[in-house]
Amino acid sequence: MSRKPLMAGNWKMNLNHVEAAGLVQNLAWTLKDRKFDPERSEATVLVPYTDIRTVQTLIEGDKLPFSHGAQDVSTHESGAFTGEVSADMLAKLNCAYVVVGHSERREYHGETDEVVNAKARAALAHGMTPIVCVGEGLDIRKEGRHVPYTLDQVKGSLAGLSAEQVGGLVVAYEPVWAIGTGEVATPDDAQEVCGAIRGFISDEFGAEAAAAVRIQYGGSVKGSNVAEIMARPDIDGALVGGASLKPEDFASIVLFYEQ
Ligand code: 13P
Repeated sequence: MSRKPLMAGNWKMNLNHVEAAGLVQNLAWTLKDRKFDPERSEATVLVPYTDIRTVQTLIEGDKLPFSHGAQDVSTHESGAFTGEVSADMLAKLNCAYVVVGHSERREYHGETDEVVNAKARAALAHGMTPIVCVGEGLDIRKEGRHVPYTLDQVKGSLAGLSAEQVGGLVVAYEPVWAIGTGEVATPDDAQEVCGAIRGFISDEFGAEAAAAVRIQYGGSVKGSNVAEIMARPDIDGALVGGASLKPEDFASIVLFYEQ
């Protein structure tokens, strides 16, 4: 089964809605100029909540060759949860993807695998694709426990989902020590864990789900290192932070297949 690579730009807490419009237009021009072929790779931008409506309007109005999504979602359907944004609200804005369990949410907001699991379920229930983030910190890596540690996160985050749901979602392996540090996991490091994740999904959810699920690597991905990472068999895309704020660099990542 062939899995279409997914290049996702996680803007994190950057760009107000005016700046967002500028970046989306710049990215669209750059991709057009460089003759991006959406058959060969898929691109999406994961933007702050306040940018979503603006970005959606541009993408749909101008039929741009990428989609948009959110960086988080509430576990709750609706009600007295001040400051939260529901999956229904995001689905109404045509979000294709929702990041759940990013390491920054796990670290600064105490999100456990149970919470991440509930968020993934909320996204799925409203027809959006969760990008489920996992990955170890430097201490775990130094102890050599990165594979079992990450698989444990995958297990908790995907608990109780159907094989069909797992086959349709995205898992992003982001070693925390490689995020925003310029420190990239080697392609071998990334493949080791991404391969183990696919093996785990095969054992828990079956071969069909394992063949279909897309597994991304994230952590200091740039236009200059994406091709060698993508050459590994179990890596189906990248979750990109810093470089997704630079249209030329993000376009080079989306166009990795030309390198
Ligand atoms: P950087 O690409 O800036 O290292 O961020 C990775 C990340 O956390 C994407 O979600």
